[in-house]
Amino acid sequence: MYQFILFIHSWLRWFLLLLAIIVIIRAFYGWIGNKDFTISDNKSTIYLVALFHIQLLIGLILYFFLSPITTGALHDFGMAMKYPALRYWAVEHIFIMLLSIIIAQIGRIQIKKAHADRAKFRSSAIYFTLALVLIISRIPWTEAERMIRGF
Ligand code: HEM
Repeated sequence: MYQFILFIHSWLRWFLLLLAIIVIIRAFYGWIGNKDFTISDNKSTIYLVALFHIQLLIGLILYFFLSPITTGALHDFGMAMKYPALRYWAVEHIFIMLLSIIIAQIGRIQIKKAHADRAKFRSSAIYFTLALVLIISRIPWTEAERMIRGF
C-alpha cells in the first residue's frame, strides 16, 4: 500500500509541475499581452488547484499513516529533529508544501473574485509562480529513485 500511494504522489508531482508551468506561461502572456481570460484558462487553474489538493490528501495519508520515515519521526519528534534527512520529511516538506497549497488556493480565489481579465491573469501569474517556486525548493531532486519512482 505504502509503495503504491508513494508512486501516485511521486508521479502526480510531474503532472502538477507541467500544468503549473503551462498555466504560468499563459498567465504572463495574457497579463502582458492584455489577452482574454478564456474558459480554458479558467479551467486549467481549477485543474491545477485540484491537483494541489489531491497531493495534499495523499501527502497527509503518507505522513500520518504510511511513510515509515514520518510515522517513525512522529514517535520521537525531538530525536528526529537531530537528523537532517528525517527533519526534511517530518517538517520541511510538509510545511513548505502546505504553504504552496495555501498560496495556490488564494490565487484561485483571487482569480474568481477579479472582474477584469488582466487582473485574473495577474493573480494567476503571481500566486502560481510563488507556489511553484516553493514546490521546486522542497522536491528531493538529487535522489534518483524518487525522480522516476517504480522504474
Ligand atoms: C504540491 C504538493 C506536493 C508535492 C509536489 C509533493 C512531492 C513529493 C515528492 C516528489 C515526494 C517523493 C516521492 C518519491 O519518493 O518518489 C514526496 C514524498 C512525500 N510527501 Fe509530498 N508533495 C507534496 C505535498 C505533500 C504534503 C502536503 C505532505 C504532507 C501532508 C506530503 C508528504 C509526503 C510524504 C510523507 C512523503 C514520503 C516520504 C517517504 O516515505 O519517502 N507531501 N512528496
